[in-house]
Amino acid sequence: MDAYECIVTKLDFREFSSKEVSSDHKTKILEAARLTQSGENSQHWRFILVQGKERLRTLAKDSEWGKWVENANFAVIVLTDPSLEYHMIDAGRAVQDMELAAWSFGVASCVFTGTKLKPLRRDFAIPENLHPTIIVGFGYPIRTLSGKIRTENRFQKSRS
Ligand SMILES: Cc1cc2nc3c(=O)[nH]c(=O)nc-3n(C[C@H](O)[C@H](O)[C@H](O)COP(=O)(O)O)c2cc1C
Repeated sequence: MDAYECIVTKLDFREFSSKEVSSDHKTKILEAARLTQSGENSQHWRFILVQGKERLRTLAKDSEWGKWVENANFAVIVLTDPSLEYHMIDAGRAVQDMELAAWSFGVASCVFTGTKLKPLRRDFAIPENLHPTIIVGFGYPIRTLSGKIRTENRFQKSRS
């Protein structure tokens, strides 16, 4: 799949199959985050890889709007330095790069932002100077769905 197709067909999934994502794909998804550009090339972010049923259950418990992450195959907590005014932009770009890399491997994902901050910080040993800005859950989708339908609909509308 080329970059354009990857972008326009990407859908958010909150339900995942129990199939394991290979460690090769997992590593490449994390590399996509690490190699994303950041403001002033500060690379202030840190990424916490959450995997295994028990840790994912804890992450779900510490979330407000991301309970579905319990059934993801793995998740990444993106920490950024809130003293930098562009820190959320950097987080968004890193997350999008991870999600698009994953989608190109057939791995689905979704993000969430609503967390119970105190328990999350405690359970995942998040340093005081960093903020858990966004969390993304990954896994193979339980259904074969493709965002192609979105682009097809749009093209049909513009033709009629
Ligand atoms: C900044 C941001 C925050 C989001 N926060 C949440 C969230 O807390 N929980 C959740 O389930 N989805 C969250 N989402 C996912 C959006 O609801 C999702 O992108 C939207 O449903 C469109 O997805 P689709 O076009 O693939 O259907 C968030 C998305 C973005 C970009």
